[in-house]
Amino acid sequence: MQSSVKKKLVIMGRSGAGKTSMRSVIFTNYTAHDTRRLGATIDVEHSTVQFMGDLSLNIWDCGGQHKYLDNYLNEQKENIFGNVEVLIYVFDLETTNHDSEYDLYDECLQNLRLYSRDAKVYCLVHKIDKILDDEMKAQTIARYERTIVKRTKGFDVEVYGTSIWDHTIYKAWSRIVYKLIPNMTTIERHLRNFCQLTEASEVVLFERATFLVVCNTSVDDMQSMNRYMSVSQAIKDYRRTCQSVQAPFHSMEVRNRYYTIFVEPFTKSTYIMVITTDPEVEPAVTKANIKAAQSHFV
Ligand code: GTP
Repeated sequence: MQSSVKKKLVIMGRSGAGKTSMRSVIFTNYTAHDTRRLGATIDVEHSTVQFMGDLSLNIWDCGGQHKYLDNYLNEQKENIFGNVEVLIYVFDLETTNHDSEYDLYDECLQNLRLYSRDAKVYCLVHKIDKILDDEMKAQTIARYERTIVKRTKGFDVEVYGTSIWDHTIYKAWSRIVYKLIPNMTTIERHLRNFCQLTEASEVVLFERATFLVVCNTSVDDMQSMNRYMSVSQAIKDYRRTCQSVQAPFHSMEVRNRYYTIFVEPFTKSTYIMVITTDPEVEPAVTKANIKAAQSHFV
C-alpha cells in the first residue's frame, strides 16, 4: 500500500481577511452565508484533510490578530514557517492600509526564505465580489499582481482574485491542490485515453468531498475551466440541499438535444463528469464505460 504524503499549507493574512471562511467553504461544507457566524481564530487552527486517497493536507489557519502575528514572526517563526509546502497569503480587498498589508507579506516571505525555500506561494486578492464591475475587478487584480510579483523575490507566485460567493474560490484552490497531487501525470494520461475511447467531448475529475476540479481534458481553455468551477459550486450547493432533506446526492444526468452530461461517483476519492455531444453515443454505453474505467484510476 502507498503511504500517505503529508503537505503543510499555511494560510496567512490579517484578521478578517477571510481565511477561515474560505477553508470552511472548501473543506467543511459551509455555505458562504454560514461564514458570517465565524469568530476570530485563536492562534493557529490545525486541520488535516485526506485528499485524493494518499495526499494528506495539513492546513495551518493562522489567526490574523496583531498579538498572534507578532508571535508567528518572532517566537514561533521556525515552527510556523518550517517545512511549508504552500503559503497562501490572503489580501483583504477592503483593507485601507495597503502599506502595512504589504509589510506583513514581506515579513512572511523573509521567514519563508529562511525556513522553506522551496515553498510555493499563492496570493489571493480576496472578497473580489465587493467590486461589481468586471473590468474594475480585472484591473484591481492586475494592480495587486504587479506589486506582489515585484515583492515576491525568490519564489514563484500565482495571484488569484477570489470570493466565497462565487466559483473563483474553487478555481484558486483547484490550482493550489493540483500541483500537490503526486501522480497527476498518470491520472491525466488515463483521463485523456478515457475521453478518446468513450468519444466524449469533455471529461472532468472532481475530488469527492470538496468537489475541487482535479483534472480535465481541456486544461488550456479558460472558458471551460470557469464552467467547471461553476459546476463545483453548483453541485456542492445541490448536495447540501439534498443532505438537508435527508436524500443523499448520488449522481446526476442532464440531457437535451445538444448534449448529455453525466456526473457519477467514480473512484473512492473522485466524481467524474462526462459530456457527450455526439447523438450516436448511447448514454447507457457511456455509463458502462465509466464503470469499466474505474479500476484504471484507483
Ligand atoms: P481571523 O480568524 O481573525 O484571522 O479572520 P479570518 O481571516 O479567518 O476571517 P473570517 O474567515 O473569520 O472572515 C471574516 C468575515 O469576512 C466573515 O464575516 C466572512 O463572512 C467575510 N468574508 C469571508 N470571505 C468573504 C468574501 O469572499 N466576500 C465577502 N464579501 N465577505 C467575505
